[in-house]
Amino acid sequence: MKIEPMTDHTGAEVLGVDLSHPVTDDVRRALNEAFVAHRVLAIRRQSLPPAQVLQAVSLFGDVFPQHNTRFALPECPQIHYLSNQDRFPDGRRYIPGEGWHTDHSNDTRPPKATVLHAVTLPSRGGDTQFANMAAAYDALADQTKDRLAPLMAIHVYQSSHSARKLMALSEAGRERVPNAVLHPLVRTHPETGRKSIYVNPIRIEGILGLDHKEALPLLADLLEHATQDRFQYRHAWQPGDLVIWDNRCLLHKANGDYDMNERRYLYRVMLTGDVPR
Ligand code: SIN
Repeated sequence: MKIEPMTDHTGAEVLGVDLSHPVTDDVRRALNEAFVAHRVLAIRRQSLPPAQVLQAVSLFGDVFPQHNTRFALPECPQIHYLSNQDRFPDGRRYIPGEGWHTDHSNDTRPPKATVLHAVTLPSRGGDTQFANMAAAYDALADQTKDRLAPLMAIHVYQSSHSARKLMALSEAGRERVPNAVLHPLVRTHPETGRKSIYVNPIRIEGILGLDHKEALPLLADLLEHATQDRFQYRHAWQPGDLVIWDNRCLLHKANGDYDMNERRYLYRVMLTGDVPR
């Protein structure tokens, strides 16, 4: 197995491993260390049906039950799909994952990782962008770090301030999903001890103790700072990619910049995480 960094801060490609077969403990350890070190792993040239995707992701952790069950595969409901062929009830096309975000931060224990496995890709475009929130935190002025340190953000299923609208939850989903949770605006990675900015424009409704006049510009400034090109890795998908990323220290976003007559379809699984601290 070969692991090659793709930038000096985020992303590595992994070659020479076939996740359709059991791997040794050494390979499993190396993959987990690389995941924490590089934050995004693109494990190339896999061809995994849903049951084998589950087996492959079990190398990294346990499956996190997604809040919205609408996209579950009927034959393997722990796996969901991402597709550019779905539409909102009013007929508009739904591009899942557009706009910077981190997954399911409205959960008390948001997923530590998300995994996508490419099944069908457009001939060009449809990249996934990642922004490294630990590097963005390190680059903040000390005064800003001091200001952020005590702040807690209020996360909900769908922020009223978000331009991106999510598919509505089913009734069962609404019962399972907390109304609102509080998470620190700066979280510490449980494995590396590094601090990261923890913002999420689609989920954050406000900041505890600040009125919107103060909170919204602060959140907008943080997002602008954190998503500068210098903190980004942009993943151009290759057939067979299985990509896993660390939601504890990254934002990500999908790009609907390709020909919508072409299909983009990927399997998606998330892995359980800790309470952000
Ligand atoms: C996501 O936000 O999970 C989707 C990313 C993508 O489709 O590129």
